Amino acid sequence: MSPGKRLFAWMYHTFLSDTGRPNPEDAFTREVRAPLLAQARGKVLEIGAGDGGNLSLYPNGVHLTLLDINPYMLRYLRETAEQMGIEGYRLIQARAERLPFSDGAFDTVVSTHVLCSVESQPGALAEIRRVLRPGGRFLFLEHVAAPPATFTYRVQHLINPAWRAVGDGCHLTRNTGDAIRAAGFHEVEIIPLSVEAPAIVSPHILGSAIA
Ligand SMILES: C[S@@+](CC[C@H](N)C(=O)[O-])C[C@H]1O[C@@H](n2cnc3c(N)ncnc32)[C@H](O)[C@@H]1O
Repeated sequence: MSPGKRLFAWMYHTFLSDTGRPNPEDAFTREVRAPLLAQARGKVLEIGAGDGGNLSLYPNGVHLTLLDINPYMLRYLRETAEQMGIEGYRLIQARAERLPFSDGAFDTVVSTHVLCSVESQPGALAEIRRVLRPGGRFLFLEHVAAPPATFTYRVQHLINPAWRAVGDGCHLTRNTGDAIRAAGFHEVEIIPLSVEAPAIVSPHILGSAIA
């Protein structure tokens, strides 16, 4: 595992994620993240769980499996879960493109700010669909490419190579909504939104899809 993964985990935890404890009064947390995660039910798999920024927002009674590719991130994740007194969760180091679970193992899969970074979106989405039970729900919140021909779109494409290098493989230019629509889910609901953030990471999609 590269030193870059360790540095990214430390930077993310220290500067970007409110050390895994988002402020419940923050508008993005209150109006976007919290209502999405409130829909999680039953056996929940969160891919790319990072340092645990979503943990405080899950409803009571869910059984959490928290997965991340980065072992250094998993250390912060364990710390956050322990500080919050969460019990009965599983921590798994694996990649979203190759999930170590049987078909139909989960009622809900969650991805927030992860599909920007996975190596293969079609691969990760096929795995998400496979591990959901028929009728299970995929919940997602992702930053995406701005509409083509906008100034932001051009800037996103210009700085994407540098952004990927410093951002642990994060892409600014992905049409993640199209990838989700193409992945074979039913009842795909995608809400585009602009969040209060620098323009290059402001365009987001929020939604759900049924396996
Ligand atoms: C920007 S962080 C988001 C963390 C968390 N989901 C949140 O919203 O606070 C992206 C996370 O996805 C993880 N990640 C990136 N590619 C991955 C992959 N292919 N499989 C699993 N996790 C991955 C990274 O290690 C990182 O922890």
